[in-house]
Amino acid sequence: MKVLFVCLGNICRSPTAEGICRSKIRKRGLPIQTDSAGTAAYHVGNPPDPRSVQTASGYGYDLSDLRARQVQPADFHEFDVILAMDHQNYQDLVAIRPADASAELVMMLGAGDSQSAEVPDPYYGGEQGFHGVVELLEGAADAWLERWSSRF
Ligand code: 4NP
Repeated sequence: MKVLFVCLGNICRSPTAEGICRSKIRKRGLPIQTDSAGTAAYHVGNPPDPRSVQTASGYGYDLSDLRARQVQPADFHEFDVILAMDHQNYQDLVAIRPADASAELVMMLGAGDSQSAEVPDPYYGGEQGFHGVVELLEGAADAWLERWSSRF
């Protein structure tokens, strides 16, 4: 199984989601591969935002090897599930989704439907926003892994 986390820049929320999920996947020994991408190309090739790297590190997650890339229509064939961090990400993904997409597109939080709550963009805010992102994503990661476990 392959899952893709998507935000705007692929330097704050989605690499944090990927780092948290891959750590939990390893601990549980689940056969799930992870990746992340941004709807925008501003930061392609860059490591995650230093504030995200530092905050996640404090919770025990290493994001330092991750590099930003832009999401592609082909990702809808490559991945089983694509998880959007906010409603704009979700709409931007719908706009590039091929008609014959095999991936399931969901929101990261809550039940995953298009009305689900958003992971707030911490980029222009203070340190507290980065902590909030980790805490929201830890809970969401546990919930998704619990749901996905029933597939194996
Ligand atoms: P992300 O945060 O989507 O969580 O990676 C952002 C990163 C960069 C920008 C906006 C949001 N930016 O405008 O460059």
